[in-house]
Amino acid sequence: MRKKIIAGNWKMNKTPAEAVELAKTLINKVNTNTVDVVFCVPYIDIIPVCDVLKGSNISVGAQNVYFEESGAYTGEISPLMLKNAGVKYVIVGHSERREYFNETDDIVNKKVKKVLEHNMTPILCCGETLKQREMGITMEHIKMQIKKGFYGLNSNDAEKIIVAYEPIWAIGTGKTATSEQAQEVCAGIRQSLSEIYSNETAQKIRIQYGGSVNGKNAAEILSMNDIDGGLVGGASLKEEFADIVNY
Ligand code: PGA
Repeated sequence: MRKKIIAGNWKMNKTPAEAVELAKTLINKVNTNTVDVVFCVPYIDIIPVCDVLKGSNISVGAQNVYFEESGAYTGEISPLMLKNAGVKYVIVGHSERREYFNETDDIVNKKVKKVLEHNMTPILCCGETLKQREMGITMEHIKMQIKKGFYGLNSNDAEKIIVAYEPIWAIGTGKTATSEQAQEVCAGIRQSLSEIYSNETAQKIRIQYGGSVNGKNAAEILSMNDIDGGLVGGASLKEEFADIVNY
């Protein structure tokens, strides 16, 4: 049985003071007995939010990382810095980073490896554009993202990765994929993983769905066979996030 994992992606929202307030509000509302819960907060909020969450079962995640250890990379954050600050999960290759910051599959693969080297859990994002879906190449595109993202990793490492399937047309648009559409792609991702590794490995890897998940649609989406959790953007900034976790 794969344990469900619900991660909030706060994106570029919340000052440190606001982040502390939101974390304090949510800490008492989410039930972490049977679900892993993660708040992926802006870098500057990591330390204060870790402080608030100390002693709880909620983990802190980052939304990005650089793939070098240290040095002359103005403006970047190293995996060791994140680890040291208390980060347990790192989102890698979110579609917004791929689109606005030119992150390629090669860069994503380097970041995944670095995050694993530092014993944190990568949340590796993949997903198709509306055009790709309309052209009927959703699965081809996602298979390629998965193959490149997992490139060079053995099954032992692969099992530690969380995959987040996020159709780009469903992110922040209020348009959720139907539970059947989401299940179909998540099953396809698991099939690809079983081709790269083995069925046994593929069955261990957790796959999240993301894209306009909210308190109302969470239960149905999370009931699907190959969907092991959610990556939640907009709704993670509100008390509604607790409804998703407690679905
Ligand atoms: P959304 O974002 O829930 O606001 O659609 C999801 C994400 O980008 O991770």
